[in-house]
Amino acid sequence: TPSDFPVGVAVSAANESYSIFNHSDASARQDVITRHFSQLTAGNIMKMSYLHPQEDTFTFGDADQLVGFAETNGMTIHGHALVWHSSYQVPGFMNNYEGDFAAMLTEHVTGVVEHFETDFPGVVTSWDVVNEAVDQGAADGFRRSVFYNELPPAAEGDIPEYLKVAFQAARDAGPGIDLYYNDYDNTANTTRLNKTLQIAEALKEEGTIDGVGFQMHIYMDYPSLSHFENAFQQVVDMGLKVKITELDIAVVNPYGGGGAPALPEYDEELAADQKQRFCQVAQVYLDTVPAELRGGLTVWGLTDDESWLMNQFANAAGANYDDVWPLLFNADLSAKPALQGVADAF
Ligand code: XIL
Repeated sequence: TPSDFPVGVAVSAANESYSIFNHSDASARQDVITRHFSQLTAGNIMKMSYLHPQEDTFTFGDADQLVGFAETNGMTIHGHALVWHSSYQVPGFMNNYEGDFAAMLTEHVTGVVEHFETDFPGVVTSWDVVNEAVDQGAADGFRRSVFYNELPPAAEGDIPEYLKVAFQAARDAGPGIDLYYNDYDNTANTTRLNKTLQIAEALKEEGTIDGVGFQMHIYMDYPSLSHFENAFQQVVDMGLKVKITELDIAVVNPYGGGGAPALPEYDEELAADQKQRFCQVAQVYLDTVPAELRGGLTVWGLTDDESWLMNQFANAAGANYDDVWPLLFNADLSAKPALQGVADAF
């Protein structure tokens, strides 16, 4: 492995495009992945609706293929994600649920965590227990999801009960597994950072959280390195782990104001700048987070052409780009300078 903490990549599996099992270059893809990374995150197929489409039905086949691949190759899995509001990820049966919601949520988390613990002991070493619970636009800063609506804060100033329920269930089901609260835009955005820290603090009091995940879908010049340092440091000060869970660095920022900028040419100079940016991000992680609190660093996809960002920018910002070159490998699986940039940080 390249380091003493996990260096991971999000992969497509099952019948997704770019699947490491079914894509036209699947075996070459597997070779690159096993050579350069020590941990995998499922980009999609371990989310709620994939694993638990109906109350009485868990579907683990696709995930088992991926977790089995990791086990065979001596890699670990970062589970993503046990609870996530995203509409198409919430299993239909959880909406308008008639019974005891807390008991149902506990069974969901328990069923998923125990399955992998039983069939692949020790391979899933961490889970994102709850993903994206913060919404800076909500009155109390917590996203109004079905989970919030069913299990809101017990009192003003508390975090929503569903977070406590989900983390407690995960702790009970997999006592040796590192449990993360994961969110996006929670470094430079101090409102979102403070909410993240509030969640971490409350769960720490319950003894059910091990770390905070920073997605880190970032840009070339935003956020700044000092924003990362400040955010990581605050988690370190709480004695919790820091994990960079979904790193990508787009070379264009359609949310910067003034509409979608023109796509720059991805020439040698830009590739060199991006290499430096990847290096600096890894460096600030290593400099700020002491070894025992390093949960790892994961990039959100292997090759630039498979990045989720082109779809995301089109849907969320109306910005249509063919490519935003956010990852470490080219479409033909050759390494970009950015890969060396990460390596240089170690
Ligand atoms: C994204 C996947 O990459 C896409 O393929 C899918 O269409 C939507 O979800 N934050 C997260 C991830 O926590 O689960 C998201 O993954 C990217 C943003």
